[in-house]
Amino acid sequence: MVTKMKELSLEELVSLCKRRGIIFPNSEIYGSYAGFFDWGPIGVELRKNIVDYWWDFFVRSRDDVFGMYGSIIMHPKVWEASGHVERFIDWLVECKSCHSRFKAEEVLEAAGIKVSDYSPENHQRLIIENNVKCPVCGGELSEIRKFNLMLETYIGAVKSEENIAYLRPETAQGMFVNFKLFTVYARNQLPFGIAQIGKVFRNEISPRNFIFRCREFEIAEIEYFIDPEKENDCPFFKEVEGITVKIWTKEMQKNDQEPKEMSIGDAYNEGVFSNQWHAYWVGKSLEWLMDIGLNIEHLRAREHLETELSHYSIQTFDIEYYFPFLGWKEIEGIANRTNYDLRRHAEFSGEKLYITMDGKKIMPHVIEPSWGVERVVLAVLTEAYSKAEDRVVLKLVPKIAPYKVGVYPLLRREPFIQKAREVYNMLKRRFACFLDISGSIGRRYARADEIGVPFGITIDHQTLEDNTVTIRFRDSKEQIRVRIGELVEELNKLLS
Ligand code: GLY
Repeated sequence: MVTKMKELSLEELVSLCKRRGIIFPNSEIYGSYAGFFDWGPIGVELRKNIVDYWWDFFVRSRDDVFGMYGSIIMHPKVWEASGHVERFIDWLVECKSCHSRFKAEEVLEAAGIKVSDYSPENHQRLIIENNVKCPVCGGELSEIRKFNLMLETYIGAVKSEENIAYLRPETAQGMFVNFKLFTVYARNQLPFGIAQIGKVFRNEISPRNFIFRCREFEIAEIEYFIDPEKENDCPFFKEVEGITVKIWTKEMQKNDQEPKEMSIGDAYNEGVFSNQWHAYWVGKSLEWLMDIGLNIEHLRAREHLETELSHYSIQTFDIEYYFPFLGWKEIEGIANRTNYDLRRHAEFSGEKLYITMDGKKIMPHVIEPSWGVERVVLAVLTEAYSKAEDRVVLKLVPKIAPYKVGVYPLLRREPFIQKAREVYNMLKRRFACFLDISGSIGRRYARADEIGVPFGITIDHQTLEDNTVTIRFRDSKEQIRVRIGELVEELNKLLS
């Protein structure tokens, strides 16, 4: 059950994003290009703050996770070995009349048919049995067929089959093919992780729902390598075992049961997760998502059914967020990839992809938490979106807010403006900060609220007399008065 049902349409969110320079459609002067987006000045800061905090949380503040930055195009053999050439597919149906193409599960969803078995046979059966027609023109649908989602390009001067390369659909493979090099940084000890944030590309059949399903997007992921004989020995488990969240196992889904609120510790003890490290990474992910402002009530962990598991996974939990305009949707997946990828790369490359630990050769297993950055941003914007007196207030947590502080002269008159400039110059090197002197003070507060600025400094009549200013709090609208000399310290306190 969702306790707080916010009323928010996708159109309202899209309109805010465009109006306030957060996210724009790509190539709009040419009618835009489906599945691609550009980020404006506010969006770029928001996105950067989120990924920077991800990096701080999962890489810089840990000594068991190492960062890497891999190339988008890799040797084409990588994608044969990984299984993506053969199996990174969606099931496509085409309208025989208007030739619109859809993902099979989407036409079923559009027809109000619940899918609880993601096999192609079941999709085909449901389409036929329910006489599902084209959602655009009502025409007859084709049989379903495989559609590989990888985007292709040619490398070199000759555009031929032999020169096809792929734009990576996940960053994970960069970490698997470099595994051996990283064992050195890990001093030949398990466990350790490799983390990467980067662009990926998927030729989605029907990109939609704004930045929820894009063709070019960013993934933040960790490949965490564990000793298969110690997969239940996670020394950090205490950090997460008390986190309580709705968990929806595949059994509950099959038996038509509601998700159950459980602590990560209890769920692990009841055998919900494939191993303790898997449970740990579900918990740690939730901790991070809550830190960036998502309410745990709007999050749940849903286990994949056997028929929807990726080819490399034996168990996956999606962290789903409740979008009022989409329902529960995946923003992160946490998969147990076992040694599938290392084994396949060892077979295809002939390299020995193991670690020698205490004289033993071990091919580690992998737990992979993988976040879609655009989806996380969409969830953050959705969570933060609120309305006060008919205007938008974006209640972003200060650590990810694009600007932390706005500085405003109460009146647009010289002594106020000059003092505001002085305060702004003092703050601008320390905080993401701006000076706004246009329009009325009410309009300036409203503009700042719309982009989620948590604190506003106002230079008023009293400032000119005693060098104090007010700090206005975005969410409560309360104000406190502080001396200009103590402003930096006070803001630091508020921001931490
Ligand atoms: N590497 C995770 C994914 O491709 O979804």
